[in-house]
Amino acid sequence: MSYFRDIRLINYRNFKDYSLEFTKNCNVLFGTNGSGKTNILEALSLFTKGRGIRKDQIKNFIKKNENNFINFSNFKQFDDSIELKVNSEKKNNKIIKKIFLNNDSSKKTIDHLYSLFSFLVFLPETERLFLSSPSFRRNFIDGFIFSKDNAYNILINKYKKNIIERSKILNLNDYETSWLDKLEENISNLGLEIYKARKLQIFSIQSHLSLLNEQQKLSFNKLIIKINDRFFNDGINIELYIKELKKYREIDKITGGAHIGPHKSDYIFQLDENILVSQLSTGQQKTIILLLYLAQSNYLVNECNLKPILLMDEICSHLDDINRKLLLKITEHFDLQIFMTGTDKNLFSFLSTNTNFCNITE
Ligand SMILES: Nc1ncnc2c1ncn2[C@@H]1O[C@H](COP(=O)(O)OP(=O)(O)O)[C@@H](O)[C@H]1O
Ligand SMILES: [Mg+2]
Repeated sequence: MSYFRDIRLINYRNFKDYSLEFTKNCNVLFGTNGSGKTNILEALSLFTKGRGIRKDQIKNFIKKNENNFINFSNFKQFDDSIELKVNSEKKNNKIIKKIFLNNDSSKKTIDHLYSLFSFLVFLPETERLFLSSPSFRRNFIDGFIFSKDNAYNILINKYKKNIIERSKILNLNDYETSWLDKLEENISNLGLEIYKARKLQIFSIQSHLSLLNEQQKLSFNKLIIKINDRFFNDGINIELYIKELKKYREIDKITGGAHIGPHKSDYIFQLDENILVSQLSTGQQKTIILLLYLAQSNYLVNECNLKPILLMDEICSHLDDINRKLLLKITEHFDLQIFMTGTDKNLFSFLSTNTNFCNITE
């Protein structure tokens, strides 16, 4: 099993020099608002690809009036102990982050590091998943895909780059059609790959939820997730896609972007075909959200042979008896390392006795 044994934060956000030790099971970070709980979850998330759970700019991680942050963690990987380090540094007038594994930052080593663990993240705004914008739901599902396959963001970025490139060409007065044709072919191929990954992801959540429902006698209604997209259906293929993009050239020239594609998709969540999840009460929506995390954990652990690390920020609102049991199941069923935050220790009294409570004070 892989897990973070500790963390040390130096000139990071509100912390001057702050250390914490963790257990390989459930860790609860509690403390008053502004004590730095979310900052600590974010610090953990910086030990992998990207700009962390809040997708902030690297310069904002540096404590005010300091030059650079530098964070350390001892990471346990089966019998090995790995020293992780991440810091900010200046490169060509930009502030970037750099990760080291046992003081080695070569591409090969860092790619290896990326393969060691992934995160499954719950943020306070996740609470409003079913009421938020389509792009919020797209990013949510994409985050689940990323927790299984960390190369997925490369696909998304390539797709976005090609869409931007196409917009630029469309706005030139004079361009080579073959150039545009080639781009649209690329976009179609990448777009189809994204649709495929998302279809597999929602299929996996649904099937693992059904499985859990049966095995654990959870007695929840069947959850149905559909991709809501004017273009996407099971019959689409590359030729249709290319043809459709070509058709929209004139419109896309005026409106920018592209009229069709996975960047326009939304998802519909239903219970048993006839109840929209968005119309349930806030607490009932929280139940569905917890079920999504339960299903995704089951999928990653039992089908993909992965052990995600769960970062759950302000997870305790709307916890009735049902939701508490679900959260308890997530913490106990998979033997995963979990980090939860909340303002009050008492909110977590339902957790098992081997929980590690950290009072965050700085
Ligand atoms: N770069 C920074 N330098 C100093 N303080 C910061 C920086 N970035 C954020 N903070 C402060 O960190 C504090 C804690 O933030 P946060 O982790 O979100 O608190 P919470 O415990 O409520 O989750 C905030 O008061 C914020 O002002
Ligand atoms: Mg917070």
